[in-house]
This record gives sequence, C-alpha cells and structure tokens, in this order.
Amino acid sequence: MERLNQIIEKLLQWYPAHCRELPWRKTVTPYRVWVSEIMLQQTRVEAVRGYFERFISRFPTIQSLAKASEEELMKYWEGLGYYSRARNLLKAARVIVEKFSGEFPSRYEEIIALPGIGTYTAGAIASIAFGLPTPAVDGNVLRVYSRVFADDRDVLSERTKKDVINALQGVYPTGKSATILTQSLMELGAIVCVPNGQPHCDICPLAQICLSNQRGEQTLRPNRKEKNARKVYNLSVFLLKAGNKIAVEKRQDHGVLFGQYQFPCLYGDLGIDNCVEYLVKQGAKHLSPLYEKNETHVFTHVLWNMKVFAFTCDQPFGSFRWATEEEIQKQIALPSAFRKFLPL
Ligand code: ADE
Repeated sequence: MERLNQIIEKLLQWYPAHCRELPWRKTVTPYRVWVSEIMLQQTRVEAVRGYFERFISRFPTIQSLAKASEEELMKYWEGLGYYSRARNLLKAARVIVEKFSGEFPSRYEEIIALPGIGTYTAGAIASIAFGLPTPAVDGNVLRVYSRVFADDRDVLSERTKKDVINALQGVYPTGKSATILTQSLMELGAIVCVPNGQPHCDICPLAQICLSNQRGEQTLRPNRKEKNARKVYNLSVFLLKAGNKIAVEKRQDHGVLFGQYQFPCLYGDLGIDNCVEYLVKQGAKHLSPLYEKNETHVFTHVLWNMKVFAFTCDQPFGSFRWATEEEIQKQIALPSAFRKFLPL
C-alpha cells in the first residue's frame, strides 16, 4: 500500500513533463477518449494518430457518428483491423443518442454496459474523462506492476489482472489525478518500461522503488505463460479481372473478418485445376491465368497461408460484386489481408 502510494505520487509528478503529445490528449472529452481507446485496443499509437484525426473530422460528435452508415464507417476504419470494434462503436453511439440524449454517460456502470466496452476501456474512459477512481489495467500496466513489485504471477491470467485492479482500486485518486494516473501508467509502459528487452530504467521515475530494477531482473518480468498457438488455415484466393472490373464479395464465414469484403476465396490449398473448376461452376468463361503467388496474413489467433491466383476473364460472372480499382480504393472497405494484393 505504502509502495503503491509512492508510485502514484511519482507518476503524477512525472507525467506532465514527459508525456507524448497525442491528438486525443489535446482536448479531452468523453467522446474523444472513447474513440481513441477503442482504436488503441489492438492498434499501435503511431498507427492510430492519423486514423483518429480523420475519424474525428468526419464524425465530430456522437450524434454524427450515430447517423453514419456502417458502409461509410468501415471506410474510415479500413486498415485498422478488428472491424467489430467499429460496429460496436456505431451501436454504442446509437444507444447513447437514444438512452442518454447524445451525452456520453458518466457512471461506470452505464459506461461498461455499452457495446464494445469492457473493464479496461470503461476504467480508462471513467478515469480519464470523468475523474473517477477506476484503474484501466492492460498488458502495459501489468508489465509495470509486475516489474515494480517483482511479482511473478502469470500476467495472462484473469486472476492476476483482477488482483492488480483491486490493489490499484484501493488507492486510486479522483478528479484530475485520476485522469493523469491512468494515462501515466499507460505512458510509462509505452515509452519507459517497454516490453521485449531492456526497459529504460535510467529515465524511469520509479527506478528507486522498482524491485526488479534493484535486483537486475527487469527482463525476467512480466511472467507470461505461453499463449495458445495460432490456428493455421490455407486459403485459395482469386483475383479476377474483367476489363477494368475486379470481383469482390462479402465474407460469409463466421470466423475472422466476418461480413467484411474480400476477394473471392475458398478454404484449402486447392491447386489451379480445382480453382478453375470452381470458377467455371460460378459461370466463368475464357479464364486466362495471370500469375500465382503466396502470402501469409497473421491475425491475433489465426494465421492464413494464402495462395493467390490472378486471372483475367472476358466478362463479369457469378454473384460477386464487380468494382473498379478506384471504387475499391475509395468506397469499399477491404481489410489489409486482401488489400495488399492491390494494384493487381
Ligand atoms: N494505449 C491505450 N490507451 C492509450 C492512451 N490513451 N494513450 C496512449 N496509449 C494508449
């Protein structure tokens, strides 16, 4: 407890002079904090910067977001990945307009009840935007905590996370200090107490307090029990060009990228003969092979080995949507897993 209070005091002093200038920190509103935290859930800060500014310019208020079509929203999310985040953002905006007259709710229980908001994000929004004493504990914070306390519990276990949340909750400040503490913990984890190799203990405000630093054990923590290996799938992907039109379709498979656009594809490493047979069944005539290539795409829990077959054909066929490359660039949200095959 005493050590935790010391840590908090040091972080509150350190943060204002050392934090990075990030777009969502310039003006702090619940809406901006919410959008940024959702984007940052699975994406690096540097990648989020540009997306955040563009998103806020197009959807400056919760009301404007609530009125967006899913199609347009996806366009603004394209490339960020994990598209269910965007769908939940839209759902939650509509809930906020209907249930809270468009004002972001200010009670923790109301915040965590919104679609797409879990313990971490609710804690972050409630503390950063509303000054509530609610910690936001993610991998960064667990790393800092485990190092400072030389705590060897598995940081991937829910039990450890709950214990750390409880420990922080017991001493969390309110008001401006809560706003700063949440961000300072994230910031320390992001720029000082970094993962993968030696952290920057020489510039760390907690160096004197940190047990791992005193013992030279920084790189031994956090203790992570190995995650389950990714599931590997083989995919045969078809790049079909008829004149200046290219075939795309929506994914029906309830796995990754469900409901997103893709180039037509089938599970399995099928070989060209099977692929041609499939395409002819769809109505293809005069297929000419252009090239074949292999690519992989890594998701959090899944890895795709993609065998890509490019064909020209004399006219559009099948139930695909046929779009020009320009339409795909400007209007169709095509996830990075497929976008990397453009231009054909
Ligand atoms: N990671 C998660 N939330 C963040 C934030 N608000 N600022 C920087 N990095 C973050």
